[in-house]
Amino acid sequence: MTRSEAKDVFAVIDMIDRNVVITGANGGQGLAETLMLAAAGAAVVAADLAAEPSTAMKAATAEYPDRITYRQLDVTRTDDWRALAEYLQSASARLDGLVNNAGITRRSRLLEVTPADLAAVSDVNVTGALLGMQACVPLMKSGGSIVNVGSVAALTGHYPVAYTASKWALRGLTIAAATELGPQGIRVNSVHPGFIETPMTADANPVFKEATIAETSLGRTGTPEEVAAVVLFLLSPMAAFVTGVDLPVDGGQSSHGGAKSISDALR
Ligand SMILES: NC(=O)c1ccc[n+]([C@@H]2O[C@H](COP(=O)([O-])OP(=O)(O)OC[C@H]3O[C@@H](n4cnc5c(N)ncnc54)[C@H](O)[C@@H]3O)[C@@H](O)[C@H]2O)c1
Repeated sequence: MTRSEAKDVFAVIDMIDRNVVITGANGGQGLAETLMLAAAGAAVVAADLAAEPSTAMKAATAEYPDRITYRQLDVTRTDDWRALAEYLQSASARLDGLVNNAGITRRSRLLEVTPADLAAVSDVNVTGALLGMQACVPLMKSGGSIVNVGSVAALTGHYPVAYTASKWALRGLTIAAATELGPQGIRVNSVHPGFIETPMTADANPVFKEATIAETSLGRTGTPEEVAAVVLFLLSPMAAFVTGVDLPVDGGQSSHGGAKSISDALR
């Protein structure tokens, strides 16, 4: 899906008057999610580590000046979340959506990974999402929706162990939150991207990319907009009866349990 096709989503999903927070929004998938939500009419608080928005985020806010607000926020800092919640309370009575998209990786393998690697990745990928939910849920009413961005690593034995362990933990956190918040009418779901072309994967070993494509039924990598479209669906009323799901956005990578290489070998 291209960026111009992504703009047409407004014809299908109307998010007007809905307020959404997206973390890690300065680039990659977070930026694509911000743009697609704004195109669908939502008011987006786009949050990221840097005090100043990236060049791409500046262009996004220029395109949708009434719909995108950039804010500095480190997802691991309780104080930053408290300040964001206070800002949201002063600006609007209700929060409709939260996308815990911010994430980092370490690519060290089992025998090299350090406790510091594990802690750093868990802080952002797991604690960050937990703090986000703790800060934002009190601002949500029935109909609210949370999307946690996991990874195909959360569905498999992906080799970068700190990252994989953190994404499995996030998956557990998501399902527990869906159970806890369901009675309030708040939905919580995971999307699990495969190999998506973003700054995170730009420096990945080319062998990793080729091997992943070989395992992907659709035979290619994904775009940030292809993840954003699924996030938008889960945030929208079109997914009103969907909660606690693990939704892969991976071109089939996690679906075949290793059968693809057998199928390919016999062609
Ligand atoms: N790109 C992929 O192939 C892929 C695959 C599976 C899952 N994911 C997940 O998708 C999400 C987005 O990944 P991406 O590829 O767009 O990554 P990216 O590195 O391009 O963007 C991540 C963003 O998160 C921000 N961030 C990092 N630490 C933060 C913190 N403490 N507080 C606030 N913001 C912080 C970064 O500044 C950056 O803007 C991540 O959770 C990632 O683990 C990505």
